[in-house]
Amino acid sequence: MPLCDHASSSPRVRGTAPPGAVDVGRQTVHPRACGERPSGRGPWCAGNADELGRVEELWRALHRHHRSINPDLGPFVSDDLSWEQRRKAYDRAIATGGRVLVAERGGEVLGYVAMRPRRMAWPATFDAEAQWVDILTLVVRADMRKAGLCNRLMAAVDDFSSEIGVNAQHVGHVAGDDRAAVFYACHGFQPAWMTLLRLGAPIPSLVGADVPIETADPVEVLGVRELWLPVHRHHQVVSPELGPFVDDDTSWGVFLPIFEAAARRGLLLRAGPAAAPLGIAVLDIAVGRDDFADTWPTGNAVAEIDVMAVRADARGRGIGKALLAAAGRLLEARGVSDCCVGAIAGNAGAIRLFSSAGFRPAWAEMVRWTPGSRLKSSGMPQARTW
Ligand SMILES: CC(C)(COP(=O)(O)OP(=O)(O)OC[C@H]1O[C@@H](n2cnc3c(N)ncnc32)[C@H](O)[C@@H]1OP(=O)(O)O)[C@@H](O)C(=O)NCCC(=O)NCCS
Repeated sequence: MPLCDHASSSPRVRGTAPPGAVDVGRQTVHPRACGERPSGRGPWCAGNADELGRVEELWRALHRHHRSINPDLGPFVSDDLSWEQRRKAYDRAIATGGRVLVAERGGEVLGYVAMRPRRMAWPATFDAEAQWVDILTLVVRADMRKAGLCNRLMAAVDDFSSEIGVNAQHVGHVAGDDRAAVFYACHGFQPAWMTLLRLGAPIPSLVGADVPIETADPVEVLGVRELWLPVHRHHQVVSPELGPFVDDDTSWGVFLPIFEAAARRGLLLRAGPAAAPLGIAVLDIAVGRDDFADTWPTGNAVAEIDVMAVRADARGRGIGKALLAAAGRLLEARGVSDCCVGAIAGNAGAIRLFSSAGFRPAWAEMVRWTPGSRLKSSGMPQARTW
């Protein structure tokens, strides 16, 4: 495999630089206003699987940065384990049509972006393209910040997206990393989802309503539609800027098999009587899940609360807390002590409920459905930070 896959345009290549290097010196690349699209493009070094080691130091620095942002989110995995896992993720990305682009000068790696095409993660919610470009990492060396290199790496994401014909883009960052949140907001990304984690400890029993909670039978699943759809509509109320949203039937069509599978595995909890359920919690237990493994240590099995919903007229009476406590008991009985839950960005009430049960906002995801479109329409980015 060639070391570098040079783009044809060659702006600002230093005379002394080796082939493929990009001049990102402060004298030629000026800091850009927030959201302004950079004019300079490549050439870049396209990393192949054999040369991923070149970005190792930058990844390790990023992992240290993640630890320093919010030490309370620890324990964290060691630097060695973090890189081992990240490298695997990059290998997988390259093997499935993704790309790692390295910006370098004089053979020194100044920054890189790793990205891959992937199925859009929330088809039950957003009426968006089926695929998006997932930015796995975008980082520049600390002494190269504010020189426009981040913007140029973002331009490389756009180039990759248009090359493969995908508009939507997705990125995640550690909760509390305001600098990252603002950077992506400047580029038109919107906060979309917050994943909260409770790792290595059972969900504590909150004092909730005294309501019977049972595992629901698979035959009850069709009745769950009337509990799920208000959640889908609630998403549209609390995060309207993230639309368009899918219609009710599409949303239910995506979730029905998920609810059925949960019920078959005894992971669908129902509050109140089967004939008139007051609320549900839908759980999943995945074995070998490794999407947190480059940052946080987990056991082999990781649970996820896929959905929690309480009938609108029964909210605020402790049923949500009772469902959460029952979910905790169920997971403990199955020996699972790591659990995550996601909430749409604007769902502050749910985030508060899960936080009160010891979950901590850990991973924030942002999307832009069309490159740059939000900036054009709104002028100033909405920099909601976590
Ligand atoms: C989130 C939800 C499941 C909580 O169920 P609930 O029975 O109302 O919750 P409880 O009465 O047990 O607990 C209320 C707690 O939830 C939080 N909360 C949830 N929604 C809230 C809201 N709209 N306003 C204020 N607090 C809210 C608060 O922390 C509150 O605790 P507090 O009363 O001690 O301050 C329910 O509001 C719901 O179905 N919401 C719509 C769907 C949803 O957002 N699901 C979660 C993501 S899938």
